[in-house]
Amino acid sequence: MKPVIFALPGNNELAAGIAATAKADVGELSHRRFPDGESYLRFLTPVEGRSIALACSLHDPDSKSLPLLLAAAALRDLGAHRVGLVTPYLGYMRQDKRFNPGEAVTSVSFARLLSGAFDWIVTIDPHLHRHASLTDIYNIPVGVGHATAVLADYLRPQSGSVFLVGPDEESEQWVSTLSVAASVPFVTMQKTRSGDRSVSIAFSGLDAFRGLRPVLVDDMISSGVTMEVAVNQLLALGFSNPICLAVHGIFADGALARLECAGARVVTTNTIPSPVARLDIYPTVGELLSEFI
Ligand code: R5P
Repeated sequence: MKPVIFALPGNNELAAGIAATAKADVGELSHRRFPDGESYLRFLTPVEGRSIALACSLHDPDSKSLPLLLAAAALRDLGAHRVGLVTPYLGYMRQDKRFNPGEAVTSVSFARLLSGAFDWIVTIDPHLHRHASLTDIYNIPVGVGHATAVLADYLRPQSGSVFLVGPDEESEQWVSTLSVAASVPFVTMQKTRSGDRSVSIAFSGLDAFRGLRPVLVDDMISSGVTMEVAVNQLLALGFSNPICLAVHGIFADGALARLECAGARVVTTNTIPSPVARLDIYPTVGELLSEFI
């Protein structure tokens, strides 16, 4: 029997986009809300004895996690052979330390929740900063894919006319790898974050890149403040309109409109659907998934 992928709400394109590469069928899952807001779930495709993947990118994870966990539990009840999660964007990775007494280290507790519900997880470029590897916090097999090749394919035709800017030290891991893959030089800046929507960035060492178009590279654009501050500073320094390139485009609080208004061209992969999710990561996800499902 072929494995089956079920899409949680909002993930139909993902499930359809990875099924052929993963040699899996797309199953039918009915989901609706009861009047009181609780989830009703029904698997309309038989699951007994089959290997299953639930497809659910975990941006806005609070609204998605409970239906996801309920769906995984239902699959166990219905006799599925194995139940995995394919989540191109894995949420709850940024609170990776107790910065202040009493804080929840949610990256660890969320990992425990998902590890208890699934047999394996497949994701793309998780935000690893203080955790060196996903296996430090997930105790199930994890498949981690990278968007580097897809981002490099986008950049290569512009090689010679652009340079990469990592807005902070964390971004150096992605920017330096991408620099090699796309044959484009890079520089990283120093960012200080003073709040969820408040950052300052110290720019230096840019004289060598005069005449080139800046491409700001980060793993994610969340509130968009990091990119917005960087775009405004690069423009003030006399550079041409920057490109903002990211793996994951969350775009909270109208961030996409603000960045475009500031003069940036924004491009991301389709780990999270949006009007600028133009770089197709589904082949990478599907390949990885085929090793697990
Ligand atoms: C840093 O932790 C990340 O790599 C990103 O720079 C950051 O998450 C972007 O967040 P925001 O868009 O809210 O500034």
